[in-house]
Parts: sequence; structure tokens; C-alpha cells
Amino acid sequence: YLYGKAWEGVGYVRDIVDGEVELEMRQDGAGLHVPEAVSDDYVVEYIWKSTSFDRMQNALKTFAIDDTSVTGYIYHRLLGHPVEEQRIANAKVPEMNEEFKVPGLPRLNESQLEAVAAVLERPMSLIQGPPGTGKTVTSATLVYHLTKQGMGQVLVTAPSNVAVDQLTEKIAATGLRVVRLASKTREATSSSVDHLCLHVMTPLAAGDEHAKLQRLKDEIGELSERDQRKYRSLRARTEREILQAADVICCTCVGAGDPRLKNFRFRQVLIDEATQAVEAEALIPISLGAKQIVLVGDHCQLGPVVMCKAAAKAGLTQSMFERLVLIGIRPIRLQVQYRMHPSLSEFPSNMFYEGSLQNGITEADRKLLSMPSFKGKEDFPWPVPNKPMFFYSITGMEEISASGTSYLNRTEASYVEKIVTHLLRIGVTPQQIGVITPYDGQKKYTSEYMRRSGSLAAALYESIEVASVDAFQGREKDFILVSCVRSSESQGIGFLSDPRRLNVALTRARLGLILLGNPRVLSKNPLWAALLLHFKELDGLVEGPLNNLQPSYMTFARPRRNPAGDSRYAFTALARGAWDG
Ligand SMILES: Nc1ncnc2c1ncn2[C@@H]1O[C@H](COP(=O)(O)OP(=O)(O)OP(=O)(O)O)[C@@H](O)[C@H]1O
Ligand SMILES: [Mg+2]
Repeated sequence: YLYGKAWEGVGYVRDIVDGEVELEMRQDGAGLHVPEAVSDDYVVEYIWKSTSFDRMQNALKTFAIDDTSVTGYIYHRLLGHPVEEQRIANAKVPEMNEEFKVPGLPRLNESQLEAVAAVLERPMSLIQGPPGTGKTVTSATLVYHLTKQGMGQVLVTAPSNVAVDQLTEKIAATGLRVVRLASKTREATSSSVDHLCLHVMTPLAAGDEHAKLQRLKDEIGELSERDQRKYRSLRARTEREILQAADVICCTCVGAGDPRLKNFRFRQVLIDEATQAVEAEALIPISLGAKQIVLVGDHCQLGPVVMCKAAAKAGLTQSMFERLVLIGIRPIRLQVQYRMHPSLSEFPSNMFYEGSLQNGITEADRKLLSMPSFKGKEDFPWPVPNKPMFFYSITGMEEISASGTSYLNRTEASYVEKIVTHLLRIGVTPQQIGVITPYDGQKKYTSEYMRRSGSLAAALYESIEVASVDAFQGREKDFILVSCVRSSESQGIGFLSDPRRLNVALTRARLGLILLGNPRVLSKNPLWAALLLHFKELDGLVEGPLNNLQPSYMTFARPRRNPAGDSRYAFTALARGAWDG
């Protein structure tokens, strides 16, 4: 009740931070004003928004009954029916290595070039590779060549928005006309590719009449019915024109079901991070008329998030990519990584990829002091010179965060601040640093702590990204700090125990990696025990103040067996099957 009268309104969840829900409510057409201060006597009802699921279901139906949704060949291949392999008859494949070169992207290596050539000739391909092997760079190059095949516009998708933005940026660098279609609910969030977003381009291209109506709308809050209709139709027409003029349209898999793409057909579809999508999600972009599909991914990185245990158990967590590998479609593999300093790639290579990950860059390429602006400056005090990594042994206390659903660890946060401050002092920029922590509670606490207690300007700390592992998939930073948080001997280590999450966390850094955690607690998990042993053997398990790091002699459980051979890590078993088979 508001001023004695019943009031109700509809809002949207904008953000959930540490259990606190932020709702956005708009004044509605009937002139009902949104109350500004209501502290009691109200009810909030959550209504489930089924858009994603509706679109998935729709794609499944279309795939099943509409034979123009994909070609017969793709239909049968996806269902695992025995069909003879096909080639695309008139594929235009560059003949000379030089012709593969695409503006704005690094020159590809031999196996990346082979991947591009092979994919161009095939109606269906899988590209698999460990972190940093250039899957995304190769995809962008591939998209460039796909647009030259004369099959119309190319649809480029990934399950997550970060992955789409990442790819959009790379494709735009090639000079192609790219449009990023973001969902309505994301229009308020800014990203690195704002200038390529449909909702940003539309008002700029819609002309004077639209601008006039927009001004009117902003000033008085709403338009008359007639103006509103005109406004909408101007907008829709401009959107259609922009989309039609693009060489490439980028959106999330679910975004491919957006009504604004309703009358569009796409012959060529690429899905990056395809191992992160549930099967029906991948079908959304594919079922828009695909003749040629490319799935790019790595089943040893994070998979789809499936909340429902029963659905997960029934197999929903298996991506289309993984299922296709299991039914015998061989992925094209990339194995040379260009991201991490070689000492950072060693453990992930051995633990998750049977030692197959090679380095395309040298130690010197990834040394801070060999960067032009750091010549002659002071290096970070790595405990072992030329090994830019260490495990900081910290015995802080884990606490339950204010929301009651997450964890934080104050001691770790204070060490994160010390390390970050040191990096900033020696000239590293905030944009070069990323802090990964699996817990929302710690994410919030660490950001706040740095801003409040850091000895440098608060603005510097504010521009440092502190986020979950999931938010970092597909991305990289020069320096990565990982705050593990869990530190109770009697509790488990929660989702730190997921090997795929560990793999992603360990493979985001280019120049340096620092883990902060309690070895005794973490080592109860065989995978973490192996990681700790690795650091210990390299003299990289340390404690004490940052300017005087000493080897830590804390005892911790040794791994009883090599966890890489453990069949519980199903993905390694899967990988082995696929690679040897
Ligand atoms: N042939 C190459 N030459 C030089 N640099 C390269 C090459 N291929 C990739 N890179 C660089 O390596 C880094 C990682 O590439 P990219 O992000 O494409 O890898 P990825 O396989 O998609 O990784 P992830 O699994 O984390 O998504 C980028 O900085 C990219 O520019
Ligand atoms: Mg990638």
C-alpha cells in the first residue's frame, strides 16, 4: 500500500550482489509513480522468465519438423546416423599461406592454418584446443574467410556474453562489418564493443524524426500512442537495415532466437566456447538454416551450468560438442599456446592435457622487464627468478558472508591488496591485473577492501576486475591473482574441487600468476594436492611478507596417486578416448 492505496508494479532484476537483489522498476503507462522509499509492508514476487527455455524448445521443435532448419547432412550427422562424409564442392580455400593472412589478427601458425583450410571445405567441424592455443583467434580468421564464400551473412555465437564480446572485438579488427546483437536486458551494461552494438547504432542511424521522438520521450517520460507507434516502427526499420547490411552478426546462442532475427537465415554458423552450451542452446543458432557449422571449444574448461540435479544426471550437462566427439567425430586440434609464460602452462598441460600443450612463446616474450615501458625497471619479487608464479600460503579464516550464501576470507583479501599495490607501484596498470575468486562474498569484500584500505588512489583499485572463474573463461590478463577463500579444516572446498574450474583459473595469466590459499585445507583434494606439490618442488610455495618471501614448510597431504589418471575426472577420460580413438 502506498499512501493508503494499493500499488503494484513490474520490475527487472538488474543485479544480485552477495544476496542483495537490485530491482529496476519503471513508471508505467498509466502514470503510476514508482515509490521511492518503502521499507516495510510490501511483497516481492519473483516471476520466472522463460525466454531462454522457450527459445531452446522452439529450436528443438524446428530442428525436428522443419527440413529447412538445417541441411539433411547436418541433420543426420547431429543425430549420429551413418552418413557418408561430405565436402563443400565449391569452397574457396586460399592456396598460399599469404592469402590466409587477415588484417588486424596475428599470423596463424601451421596447425591453425590447416584448421582454417579444413573447416572451409567441410559442412561440419569441431575445433578443440587447450587454453591460449588461439581457438578464438583462429575462429575470427575463419569467419573472415567464411564471409568470402558467397553464402550470405555469417552468424557467430557463444553461450556467454563475455565470449561473444571477445570474438566480436577480434572479428571487427579484420575490417568486416560486424553487428553485436545484445539482449534488451543487457542494454544498460557497457562492454568493450559498445560501438558495434545494435542498440547503440540504431539511434545514431535512425534519422531526425526518431531523434525528435527520442528527445520527447526522454523529456516527458512517455509518448502519445501514435508517436509511440511511429517511434517503434522507425526503430524496427533501422534495426533491420543495420542487421541486413552486416557481414557478420554476433550474439549469444540464446540471442540467436531474438525476434529481431526472425526473418533472417544463416547458412554458416560458428559457435565459440561450444563446450559451455547445453545441447538445445547450441541448436538455436544452428536451426536458422545452417549448411556449414563450426563448433569451437575445450571440454576440459567449464561446461554448461545446469541447476537441476535430475536434468544434469539425465545428461543435460553434456554439450553437443562433447556428444559429437563421443560418437566419433574427430575434432581438429590446436596444441600450441601463445598466452602464458611457459612455466605457467606446465602444470595445466600435464594435469589436464597429458602433456600435449606446447609453447609458441618463450620466457623472454613473457617477461615484464622485456616490455618496452619496463626496460631497466624493477621486477616483481618473484621467489624464483624467471618463474613468475607462486602459491602464497595463508592461514586466514573463512567466514560466511552477510548474505549467508557465500564465503569470504579477510586475511586473503588484505594480501591481495598488498600484491596489487606492489604491482601498481612498479608501473603495472589496473587493466593488466585480474583477481579471480570463486566466491561472490569474497569478490565484493576484496573490491571494497582494496578501495578503502589500499595505499594508492581508490580509482586505481576500482578499475581492477575482481570476478569469478566463470567470468574469466575465454579471457586473459597479464597478471592474475587467485584468492581461494576456503580455509576450514572441517569443511569441504566447495566448487574449488571442480577440475575444469581450476584449469580455467590457472590459464588466464600471461605474465604472472599468484595463488593465495590455505595449503593444508586445499590439499585434501587430490588435484589441489598435486598442484601444491608442483609449487613446492619449484620452491614456489611461500609465506611471509611480500618483500621477504620464504619457503613455506607447512605440511600438507601429498597426492596418493596421480589424479590425472583418476576416472572421476570424466573429462580426461573423454579426452583420452577421443584423442587415441
Ligand atoms: N598464431 C599466433 N601467433 C601469435 N599470437 C597468437 C597466435 N594465436 C593466438 N595468439 C594469441 O594467444 C592468445 C590466446 O589466443 P585465444 O584467446 O584465441 O586462445 P583460445 O584458445 O581461444 O583460449 P581460451 O581457451 O582461453 O578461450 C591471444 O593473446 C592471441 O592473440
Ligand atoms: Mg577462446
